[in-house]
Amino acid sequence: MSDFPKPDRRPEWTALADHREDALSRPDLRELFAADPSRAERYVVRVGDLRIDYSKNLVTDDTLALLRKLASATGVSDLRDAMFRGERINITEDRAVLHTALRAPRDAVIEVDGENVVPKVHTVLDKMAAFADRVRSGEWTGYTGKRIRNVVNIGIGGSDLGPAMAYEALRAFTDRSLTFRFVSNVDGADLHEAVRDLDPAQTLFIVASKTFTTIETITNATSARSWLLAGLGGGEEAGEKAVAQHFVALSTNADKVAGFGIDTANMFEFWDWVGGRYSYDSAIGLSLMIAIGPDRFREMLDGFRIVDEHFRNAEAPDNAPLILGLLGVWYGNFMGAQSHAVLPYSHYLSKFTAYLQQLDMESNGKSVDRDGHPVEWQTGPVVWGTPGTNGQHAYYQLIHQGTKLIPADLIGFARPVAELSDELKAQHDLLMANLFAQGQALAFGKSAEEVRAEGVPEEQVPHRTFHGNHPTTTILAAELTPSVLGQLIALYEHKVFVQGAVWNIDSFDQWGVELGKVLAKRVEPALTETFASAADAAGSVPGLDPSTAALVA
Ligand code: F6P
Repeated sequence: MSDFPKPDRRPEWTALADHREDALSRPDLRELFAADPSRAERYVVRVGDLRIDYSKNLVTDDTLALLRKLASATGVSDLRDAMFRGERINITEDRAVLHTALRAPRDAVIEVDGENVVPKVHTVLDKMAAFADRVRSGEWTGYTGKRIRNVVNIGIGGSDLGPAMAYEALRAFTDRSLTFRFVSNVDGADLHEAVRDLDPAQTLFIVASKTFTTIETITNATSARSWLLAGLGGGEEAGEKAVAQHFVALSTNADKVAGFGIDTANMFEFWDWVGGRYSYDSAIGLSLMIAIGPDRFREMLDGFRIVDEHFRNAEAPDNAPLILGLLGVWYGNFMGAQSHAVLPYSHYLSKFTAYLQQLDMESNGKSVDRDGHPVEWQTGPVVWGTPGTNGQHAYYQLIHQGTKLIPADLIGFARPVAELSDELKAQHDLLMANLFAQGQALAFGKSAEEVRAEGVPEEQVPHRTFHGNHPTTTILAAELTPSVLGQLIALYEHKVFVQGAVWNIDSFDQWGVELGKVLAKRVEPALTETFASAADAAGSVPGLDPSTAALVA
């Protein structure tokens, strides 16, 4: 337990609240740009290949300076350094938080309890690379000797979203002769649809689960094994050999892996200091490594590392994750924003926001501080969004003219992927024109005078007026490469870190998902029985509330 003062009792917090009350502190973006056109260059930070323009945010130099003071007072950089040093900053689980060690160079030294963990990170990476090469080359075959053509990752949460998102993001770099599927939902339809057109003899299952106890994953893996054995035929002995050829595991739990019947020689290990939502650059990324190859995977790790180093070393005014984190604090704690939209202008990033939902909301969806006291300040926002152009024809109306403040990130790339035809490449200009147009429209809107000047009838003027002043941050890179993807993910990981540090919450536990799991186990047996009444259901399933008992009945 610490005696960390509550952030909202600090003078730096009060100074920001006062600043917010100040008439000038809800800045008008039109006025700000008119007064200082250099804002467009000054409010840009470059990290690796990323160009992050935060000039269209509702902040001034004063706001930013006050936010940095809050970061300093709340010890963000101290906690950051403790994380990089391998201290047990995940206090409720008493664990180090060392996803940054997953992308450390071979010669780095990062100790947990006196042991340098970097050599074992690289041992696993090398083992993954050797296996990925064997699958990609056709040397690793299925039980009948046919080469593997299909890879099915079975996992959920951090053991699914990361590899599924990154596979989609880097499709242009994947081996197109292989088929990849990602199964997560305990709804049998997910596995059914994933395997129904696959040849079992050519299918490799990767069972990804940090704990190897997650009910969805174990259930799906068990069903996948039945599907495989039914498809291959053969007796019990053949079954064991087949499982050895067609199942590998990614886990921290060797006992459970062995208990499931997977040879631990075919287990790729990671460690309790890697949080599930921070794990796709660990062994959890094996499916991705098979898809893009070990070299590209290492390029991605290099991208992560560029941002790690930046976060660790850049001065506060130029520190991108710090700036993005503090902007979120400004909107959430001082301007009443409840959500944050992430809007990629890239089809390849179609799963990016879903991935960030776990990263951000599982990390910072907390209502007690690190000392266990209820927080009296807002914590993590609702994160949402889909690829931008599709969103424009769905929910952008609310962002433009609704009543809610929704800060948004617009993410885009200067170049389309190389393999598109010339005609499809030409569409990229239209795609990016939409990104730029939305940032402009959201920031600067269209005044009533401008609407009137177009000859719009007076009664329609209010409907067609855009007040603008909707904040956006624009993140651009030349193209979406493995390194750039790593940079983007590390940027958001550290942004989430900064916010959790300011709010003094444990961003690395997830107790909030436990209760539903326990209750599901309790309810499940009831669903296989027949009840005449809700009272029967309630009676036979201890702890069922009357509403749930009626639903079960
Ligand atoms: O239920 C939430 C969670 O614990 C996530 O934090 C995690 O990513 C997911 O379940 C999957 O857990 P595992 O990798 O242990 O199967």
